[in-house]
Amino acid sequence: MSVGATKSWCGLIMNIAVSGIQWGDEGKGKIVDWLAEKHDVIVRFQGGNNAGHTLVVAGTTFKLSLIPSGILHEGTLNVIGGGTVLDPWAFLDEVRSIARSGVKVTPDRLVIADNTPLLLPIHRELDQLREDAADKGKIGTTLRGIGPAYEDKIGRRAIRLADLADRDRIRARLEKLDLHHNALRRGLGAESTDLDSLHRDLLAIAPEITVFGRPVWKLLDDMSAQGSRILFEGAQGALLDIDHGTYPFVTSSSTLPGTAASGAGIAPQRIGHILGICKAYCTRVGAGPFPTELFDSTAQYLADKGHEKGTVTGRNRRCGWFDATLARQVCITAGIDSLAITKIDVLDGLDEIRIGIGYELDGKRIEHFPSSSDQQARVKPIYESIPGWSGKTESVRQMRDLPNGARQYLDRIEQLTGKPISILSTSPRREDTIELSDAGWC
Ligand code: IMP
Repeated sequence: MSVGATKSWCGLIMNIAVSGIQWGDEGKGKIVDWLAEKHDVIVRFQGGNNAGHTLVVAGTTFKLSLIPSGILHEGTLNVIGGGTVLDPWAFLDEVRSIARSGVKVTPDRLVIADNTPLLLPIHRELDQLREDAADKGKIGTTLRGIGPAYEDKIGRRAIRLADLADRDRIRARLEKLDLHHNALRRGLGAESTDLDSLHRDLLAIAPEITVFGRPVWKLLDDMSAQGSRILFEGAQGALLDIDHGTYPFVTSSSTLPGTAASGAGIAPQRIGHILGICKAYCTRVGAGPFPTELFDSTAQYLADKGHEKGTVTGRNRRCGWFDATLARQVCITAGIDSLAITKIDVLDGLDEIRIGIGYELDGKRIEHFPSSSDQQARVKPIYESIPGWSGKTESVRQMRDLPNGARQYLDRIEQLTGKPISILSTSPRREDTIELSDAGWC
């Protein structure tokens, strides 16, 4: 990594997909916000209001969940793609909440794909019923109804945004959904759904939400043809991916950047670069394997200094060392071209920093994370230790001003993952972001 490089790399690439490469909360919101001014369109393509970003812009804190971070940039079009699941009530609450901070969300600034499946209150209820019934097997979901909403999509029962236009047919669609949900609710000892009130509420909200609906695939195709630059904003992280994550402790969508194409409706070839975001250490919310998790005073240090509390649920995040084995694996499954490292400043002040460089499983060294959940729970990390640095990385804006130790740490991450670092974030503020040009591909 060369010191002080400043050439603008992302000016050379047409469309970028940005994805977290850990268990979510990697600081994607800040990086997307920073990249947004270089793009014309920002697209969410999977997940729902389980996602949460906190952004600090000109001293005002914004909390976004469903709405893409580009909404904070005037002149940027924001799109919620059909690969997401949309809670219309949560969406409109978010619209009202950011309007109070002076940001208007109107259909000319935000478009929702009309094929987006709706997340209804019955999905949230089922999420809660299942978690309550699971006892020790709890996933620790965000309780937003994400899993049940995706199940109904895959089960071909979902009500999609475009369906709301046909008001006379909504009741029949709800009855089909109800048949399925009531069977599950009976099994879980819950009361039947209140079909009348759900029907009434959906009819009431339909006009407010349908004004945002359009065929997004066509909009993106037209804008691409006119030379617009599109940024695809992933939610959660690769280790929560339904196929490649720490299953079953995952979310219910495909979180890898490959989903950007199908979840938005554009050709995969149109994505010019895949940027993987990771923290300089690891965190996780909810249950599931986390090999490099710490339980000592360093965990507390990271949690306190990194404000490691979930934006959506307020839960404390589990903290641990950077796991290079998992990062390398994700760089392959997600097709990462370069990395953005966030929260390096949280490591300032530590005497020693560790990096997970492999695992021991039943007395043998392995270089990848196994697929079996039993084995995932048994792997023990093998660490490499490097000395902490004196001096601060916090708010540093030039590579040459970083402490030597911090540069060595970043070099080691590049070596172990095999990917160049193209962005370094040194505080939550938009301006404290370093762009590196020597990633070798621009
Ligand atoms: P669900 O997505 O609510 O079903 O939750 C499944 C798992 O994904 C749980 O461990 C959640 O804590 C985790 N999860 C979901 N969304 C996020 C996110 O945006 N950041 C971090 N973890 C998340």
